[in-house]
Amino acid sequence: RRIAVLISGSGSNLQALIDAANTPRLPNTHIVLVLSNRKAAYGLTRAAQANPPIPTAYLALQPYLKANPDKTRPDYDAEVARIVVRSKPDLVVLAGWMHIMSERFLDILSGHTPLEDTDEQQLKVTRPIPVINLHPALPGAFDGANAIERAYEAFQKGEIKTSGVMVHRVIREVDRGDPVVVKEVEIRQGEPIEAFEERLHRVEWEVIVQATAQVLNEVSP
Ligand code: GRF
Repeated sequence: RRIAVLISGSGSNLQALIDAANTPRLPNTHIVLVLSNRKAAYGLTRAAQANPPIPTAYLALQPYLKANPDKTRPDYDAEVARIVVRSKPDLVVLAGWMHIMSERFLDILSGHTPLEDTDEQQLKVTRPIPVINLHPALPGAFDGANAIERAYEAFQKGEIKTSGVMVHRVIREVDRGDPVVVKEVEIRQGEPIEAFEERLHRVEWEVIVQATAQVLNEVSP
């Protein structure tokens, strides 16, 4: 089974997938593309250093818009989708991808909107390609950015007892798709945010592999 991973940062979750790919945790599974919207993302290095090396792509929004003044954000998303579809994945995993996935991207991945002006056969989406996203909070708790910091502050104010990690299906409302895997992560009284964050990331590395295996088994048992 083939997965494409989209990243923006250090890629520690990508690394968890690299380490699990083609082992009993993710049998017969290969990462066929790592796409980053940030050139400095260390995840690109992790992909290049994987054995065998994983094809990478880089496409950032602002440089794209500057180079294509007549294009807009949906065109950028279509270009991201094109790169992804060309790698023919069975599943797309957003592992710290710091962009909202627009409707255009999702419509292309689901096969509703064909990729235009190309007769490249491999750009035909013959069956919907599922997209899942890793989010460092519990469903509906802290949608959007800085979820870790916001959960930590809420805990300090006594507003929550625990936080967590989830992987959910990507739909049009941000961070609102059906959860695939949810795991609580406790916050300890008096601990610095770094300790909470470290514990939370370790849970992410488990959850992202578990959720990927689960969805892959749905699409290609
Ligand atoms: C993770 O905390 C993820 O939940 C969030 O961004 C972070 C990505 O970390 N969306 P990494 O790039 O996988 O190390």
